[in-house]
Amino acid sequence: MKIFLDTADIEEIRIAARWGVLDGVTTNPSLFAKTSGKTYDEVLVEICGITSGPVSAEVVAEDVEGMLTEGRHFAKLAPNIVVKVPMSEEGLEAIYRLAEEGIKTNCTLIFTANQGLLAAKAGASLLSPFVGRLDDINQDGMDVIRELVGIVEMHDLDSEVLAASIRHPRHMTEAALLGAHVATTPFKVLQMMVHHPLTDKGIKTFREDWEKARQAADSNAKAAANRHN
Ligand code: E4P
Repeated sequence: MKIFLDTADIEEIRIAARWGVLDGVTTNPSLFAKTSGKTYDEVLVEICGITSGPVSAEVVAEDVEGMLTEGRHFAKLAPNIVVKVPMSEEGLEAIYRLAEEGIKTNCTLIFTANQGLLAAKAGASLLSPFVGRLDDINQDGMDVIRELVGIVEMHDLDSEVLAASIRHPRHMTEAALLGAHVATTPFKVLQMMVHHPLTDKGIKTFREDWEKARQAADSNAKAAANRHN
């Protein structure tokens, strides 16, 4: 499963890239709103300079022509830009037309397998079911991942299922087990995946024991040297 970072925070993206675990990035207007001082274009270009993986840039227009204008603009910023288009009647048409122009799209705000199926047929490269937001309203978001992965594989559709709206590390494990092609995670969840109390405790204990053993060896060496003098 590919791991994307769900953020517009440049420092977080740099850290994940240094760890060697970053396959791409997803942004949206809410994530961009948390950054300050730069335009969305500037942030996107900077992200594309850090990763050569897909970087999703989301349109805000709700009409087809507006989505196409924004999408074509984003696509010119860098070769790895993927245009994020919301699931809607207009969104499907925009996805279809952008695909005809060779521009890759990520269909966002998917909450059912049927929506994902339509987005795949329209030509979206990435299908983004929002797992966490479904869990928030007492539905099992992973059901959509399971169904959509099954549909994509059974019918050999040319799209990848991207588990989005990830809230905790267990979501990442479940998405991987269900065969999601990609999961996009907040940096905080990525950090949580790295750590385990027993791992952190084990590192501390090994360091302390090594220090004790080194000190014992040092004092033995000093005692032996004193005996010889
Ligand atoms: C990613 O593509 C989505 O925009 C994002 O995962 C949504 O996450 P949220 O439900 O935490 O806002």
